[in-house]
Amino acid sequence: MNRRRKIYEGKAKVLYEGPEPGTLVQYFKDDATAGNGKKHEIVDGKGVLNNRISEFIFTKLNGLGIPTHFVRRMNMREQLIKEVEIIPIEIVVRNVAAGSLVKRLGLEQGTQLPRSIIEFYYKDDALGDPLVSEEHITAFGWATPPELDDIMSLAIRVNDFLTGLFMGVGIQLVDFKIECGRLYENDMMRIILADEISPDNCRLWDVKTRNKLDKDRFREDLGGMLDAYREVAQRLGILVETDNALTTGPRLVQ
Ligand SMILES: Nc1ncnc2c1ncn2[C@@H]1O[C@H](COP(=O)(O)OP(=O)(O)OP(=O)(O)O)[C@@H](O)[C@H]1O
Ligand SMILES: [Mg+2]
Repeated sequence: MNRRRKIYEGKAKVLYEGPEPGTLVQYFKDDATAGNGKKHEIVDGKGVLNNRISEFIFTKLNGLGIPTHFVRRMNMREQLIKEVEIIPIEIVVRNVAAGSLVKRLGLEQGTQLPRSIIEFYYKDDALGDPLVSEEHITAFGWATPPELDDIMSLAIRVNDFLTGLFMGVGIQLVDFKIECGRLYENDMMRIILADEISPDNCRLWDVKTRNKLDKDRFREDLGGMLDAYREVAQRLGILVETDNALTTGPRLVQ
């Protein structure tokens, strides 16, 4: 029952016009996709969990003075955000070898990297989000050199914060992806964190068991995706055991 104007529908979220200019409503869907949308399933309750997990993380980042688009959560599946001009780059920070890095460089999955590594991917589904360098980004004008500096320092701050946050609840942050955008305020422009941070775009491994608690459960057909996301939420103290009813069973009407 959304009477709002739909601005954009992506694979995992929908953006609606917000209640006032410069704002949007970000709606979290239950769709799980991988391989640029080739693999697709509905995982009942995933959107609710990602909305809560992303709210939790963005609220903490805002509190640390790391600028984000997050304003407030509105309901089970929606949050109010500031509209930004998205920079068409996915920023990936890696601490441990996994995913495409393992394939590309022939590393063994789980190898601790000598230091955190930042990678950039050009956001273009038709091209399969190719890996690009800083040279490509600045030469093609996707971001200026000073913007790229801001993006990288923001990414490192987010990595430092998330690494500690997850380590405190027995989870290793292997890697994650973020998106940034330009926020115009008065005559000023600044780079802020946008999109979401959830187990959809982080690799999270249980420190003791080495179990995967992220979207790789879906990518690799391991099963138990929702349980893993719920586990992450519970460890962060977002959900208590009895909240499970919120993410299972009949769909809540909102
Ligand atoms: N604050 C914001 N202002 C404007 N757009 C945003 C903001 N935060 C996120 N977005 C964009 O909203 C969309 C979220 O939808 P979703 O994540 O489902 O997209 P997607 O299918 O992954 O596709 P895309 O390749 O565009 O990310 C993304 O395109 C993202 O770049
Ligand atoms: Mg996305």
